[in-house]
Amino acid sequence: MTWSRIYKGIKARLPLSMQFLIEMLNYWKRLRRYNACINTDRDQQKMQYTLLRENHIIEKGMSMRNTRRGFGQAKVTALIERLRKYNRLYGGKDNTFLVYPLSTIKEYIAYQHRDGVEIPEIERAFRVLCEEAGIEEASLKMPAGIEMLRADYLQEQAKGDYHSLLYSRHSIRYFKEELPSKEILEKALTLASRTPSACNRQAWHTHIYFGEDSHELLRMQDGCKGFCDDIHCSIVVTADMKGFLGHEPFQCFVDGGLYAQNLINALHYEGLGAIPLSCGFMSDKLLAMQKHFGIPENEVMVVIIGTGVMQDEMKIALSTRRPVATTNIYH
Ligand SMILES: Cc1cc2nc3c(=O)[nH]c(=O)nc-3n(C[C@H](O)[C@H](O)[C@H](O)COP(=O)(O)O)c2cc1C
Repeated sequence: MTWSRIYKGIKARLPLSMQFLIEMLNYWKRLRRYNACINTDRDQQKMQYTLLRENHIIEKGMSMRNTRRGFGQAKVTALIERLRKYNRLYGGKDNTFLVYPLSTIKEYIAYQHRDGVEIPEIERAFRVLCEEAGIEEASLKMPAGIEMLRADYLQEQAKGDYHSLLYSRHSIRYFKEELPSKEILEKALTLASRTPSACNRQAWHTHIYFGEDSHELLRMQDGCKGFCDDIHCSIVVTADMKGFLGHEPFQCFVDGGLYAQNLINALHYEGLGAIPLSCGFMSDKLLAMQKHFGIPENEVMVVIIGTGVMQDEMKIALSTRRPVATTNIYH
């Protein structure tokens, strides 16, 4: 009998509460190794993911309703510095990764110019980075930054085929003051209830907040700095831990996540704008939010969906996707 079988045999005889502790310990071991905050720049993938995040912060800054004149200069300067470091460490292996963030910075510079803001030092640092990476500035044609889109165009596209539904859905960060009706919200919830779930348990729940309650929830969430007060309806998607058995301690996040994505698409289909907002926080913060907003402790918060009636025209972040070849492996 192998050690692994002996270990599994002993583990199976332990009370479930002990097995959960072992499970948490195993997860902790993987967190220590693979979390992006630990030894970030010693790992090319961790560096790429964190750079994509920093790149998105610039893009998202441009997509808000009211941007502060000259916003984001410290962040762009820091991003350029880290991109130079990436190029020194990993550019030889994969410098095509740099094309997207460089395209975003190019758009950021153009955005500031349109706003009449001069940023010569950032422009200089950007040119140096392009030179070091051997990438011609003129060749940076990847869609990046923001685009202006009309609500009527998005609504028409959402009612098209599946392709046009998915390609016309974008995260929208500001809405009209007018609230979406309960009727339309319930139409979207009904559509989303078609989501498959493990053994059809449908352990998802939604908690909907309007007006000042929505703003306060988003202030606590803290991932919408600069646009909390522009989202007047928030839907918290949760999953009920009571729905899952001993062998599936994390299944609630899977079923809740699948439901949340369908709800986002359904809101878009029904003509509303929407944005997923993170609940990926430590449990003390989440439990404090749950207590404050009347969400029972047996539910886990999966994601908050900000939604609302779209403005006639909106700025959206392009959020270019990575090529499938970098995310798929055929085995
Ligand atoms: C789980 C999740 C959490 C997110 N959290 C935030 C957030 O806290 N703040 C924010 O502005 N955008 C947030 N987003 C939106 C992403 O930035 C956005 O989905 C991504 O850039 C892709 O753009 P798209 O939704 O327009 O296609 C989140 C998205 C997901 C899926």
